Amino acid sequence: MRLTGEFFRFLIKLVILSGVFFSCSKSTSGPSAADAFNDLDIYERNARIYRAINLGNALEAPNEGDWGITVQEDYFQIIKDAGFTSVRIPVRFSAHAGTESPFTLNQLFMMRIDQVIEQALDRDLIVILDFHHYEEIMQYPQEHKQRFLKIWEQLAVRYKEKPGELIFEILNEPNNQLTSDLWNEYLEEAIQQIRETNPERTLVVGSFLWNSITGLSSLRLPQDDFLIVTFHYYNPFEFTHQGADWVPGSNDWLGTTWEGTDAQQSAVESDLNEAVTWSVLNGRPLFLGEFGAYNPADMASRANWTAFVARACEEREISWAYWEFAAGFGAFDPENYQWRLPLIEALIPPQISQNQFSFQNR
Ligand code: BGC
Repeated sequence: MRLTGEFFRFLIKLVILSGVFFSCSKSTSGPSAADAFNDLDIYERNARIYRAINLGNALEAPNEGDWGITVQEDYFQIIKDAGFTSVRIPVRFSAHAGTESPFTLNQLFMMRIDQVIEQALDRDLIVILDFHHYEEIMQYPQEHKQRFLKIWEQLAVRYKEKPGELIFEILNEPNNQLTSDLWNEYLEEAIQQIRETNPERTLVVGSFLWNSITGLSSLRLPQDDFLIVTFHYYNPFEFTHQGADWVPGSNDWLGTTWEGTDAQQSAVESDLNEAVTWSVLNGRPLFLGEFGAYNPADMASRANWTAFVARACEEREISWAYWEFAAGFGAFDPENYQWRLPLIEALIPPQISQNQFSFQNR
C-alpha cells in the first residue's frame, strides 16, 4: 500500500515530535562509543552498524573462490580505514551442511568462517553474518525447513560466546515457494531456536519477496527486543541491473543513466519513505542490507545514485550495506588494489565521518 503524501507528512511530524519528547525524557543525549554493544537498545545498535559493505561473491559462491573472490585478511583493514563501521558477510551455509539429519556443518568450512569473523571483529568492524543463497529452501520449503533450523541451531551454539558485534541475518531474500505465510512461520521458529543460546544477540530479519520494501507489509514478527528489519534496494532496476547476465532482457537497458533529476530523486525518496512509515508503525529499526549499481552502468551515474541512496538512508536513520566490495558492483578494484574513487567517495564522503543518527525514529 502506498500512503498518501498528507498521511506521510503527518507520520513524519509524529516521529519528530516523539523524537523531541524522547530526547527530553532522556538524561543523556545518546550512546557514546565506549558503551558496550550489548548494553545498547536495538535502535542504538542499528546506529552502530551505520555504514557497511558486503563481502559479496566470496563465501556465498558454492565454494569460496568459485566466483573469483576470496576473502583476504587485509580487506578488513582496507574497509575499516576507508571509514566503514561494519561488514555484511554472505555465506552459503546450505552448501556445507549434511543433507540428512542432523545436517552437520562441515568443520573445515566452519573454521574458515570462524577465521573470517575474527579477522573482521579484530578490526572493530561489526559483522552481519548472512545466510545467503539457500536456493533449495526457496523451491522446496517443507523439505528444507528442519535442515534450515538445524543449521541455525549449530551456528547459534558455535557463536554464542562471541561479542554482540557479531550479528546474525537469518535468511537472505526469501522468495518463490517460501511464501510469506511459510516464511513468517519459519522465521519465528528460527528466532526461538537462536534465542535458546543467544538471548540478546542482534538478529537481522527481512521479508518475503526478495527483501523488498513492498514485502514488509507481509512480515509478522514475534515479540523480541533485538530485531533489526532489513530490506534491499535496487530501484530503478533498469538502471542498477543493466547488462546483468542473471536478469533476462537486461541488455536492452544498457545506457540507462541516473543523473539525480527531481523526478529520479523523489522516486527514491518515496520508496524509502514507505519503508520508514512501516518502521515507525511497527517500532522496528531498518537496515538497508543491499544496494548498488552493476558495472555496465556509467560510473558517474553509479556514483550519483549510490551517494543519493546512502545519504537518503542516513537522513532517515537507516543503516546500510553497499552491494558489494570487489566483484561486479565493486567499490574496490582488486586488481589494482585500490578503491574506485567515485564510488568510495559516494559511500563515505570525507566531510561526514561519524555516526549522525539522532534517534528520532524510535
Ligand atoms: C545476490 C547477488 C546479486 C545481487 C544483485 C544479491 O542478493 O546474491 O548475486 O548480484 O543481489 O542482484
